[in-house]
Amino acid sequence: MIKKILKNIKAIKFYAQGKKFYNDRFYIDTENKTNREISKKVTRTEILNFLLSLKSNPTNYLEIGVRNPAHNFDLINANTKYSVDPGVEFAENPVDFKMTSDDFFKKLSAGEILSKDIKFDVIFIDGLHLAEQTDKDIVNAFEYLHEDGFVVLHDCNPPTEWHARENYDYHNTPAHKYWNGTTWKAFLKWRCNAVVNSCCIDADWGVGILSKKHLIGNSIESVNPFFEYYIFNENRQKELNLIDFELFKKYFN
Ligand SMILES: C[S@@+](CC[C@H](N)C(=O)[O-])C[C@H]1O[C@@H](n2cnc3c(N)ncnc32)[C@H](O)[C@@H]1O
Repeated sequence: MIKKILKNIKAIKFYAQGKKFYNDRFYIDTENKTNREISKKVTRTEILNFLLSLKSNPTNYLEIGVRNPAHNFDLINANTKYSVDPGVEFAENPVDFKMTSDDFFKKLSAGEILSKDIKFDVIFIDGLHLAEQTDKDIVNAFEYLHEDGFVVLHDCNPPTEWHARENYDYHNTPAHKYWNGTTWKAFLKWRCNAVVNSCCIDADWGVGILSKKHLIGNSIESVNPFFEYYIFNENRQKELNLIDFELFKKYFN
């Protein structure tokens, strides 16, 4: 009887549930992997600035998905920079184009903003982290990229399936607030495209790089036609062409 009453007291229930989570091997493993990723030193900003530094002409940079520009956009060294964000996550949203990437590219191709003939040296895609949207962003980015330019994608290397969940809003998984979404699927699709060279820098949640001109990594045959996470995880090195940033820089020596 006393046991039954105790079981029904909310605080005790919460304690018992919480204890279960904190001792759960999925939680522990995921938290370790989150901490390992956070401790990696190289940042997306350093990588983007390195790619821009390879160009001798005045450089033109586009960022899709900006949130707080102080965290990346403002730190980018390019002669001309443009930013696109509908303002989902950062109310101030101080960007050039307050709209989704789809609307931006639609207006660009209709000649309503900038110039239809504009070309960028580096386009950083870090907007809505769902595979279908990321794939659309990549297709559109290549339309407006110089032949020797780079399309760069954030969040290509989710450390666990919880980081790679589709729903950003749910924070009670072992990954808590950390979210890479399903960008990895779009990147993997493009890794299998024979006209594109690609690799993923092993830092800052996986910085994927695509280039039609620079020989940064051969395309692969697909071994994961249904984009299943466990297959991706078993073949992560090859599927992403994961590479250390110092090694990547040597390609350009
Ligand atoms: C991860 S944050 C960007 C972080 C930033 N690039 C950085 O490096 O610090 C993602 C941003 O994408 C924006 N976003 C969401 N859906 C979008 C869409 N369809 N098109 C463009 N941006 C989008 C959100 O408003 C959010 O500010």
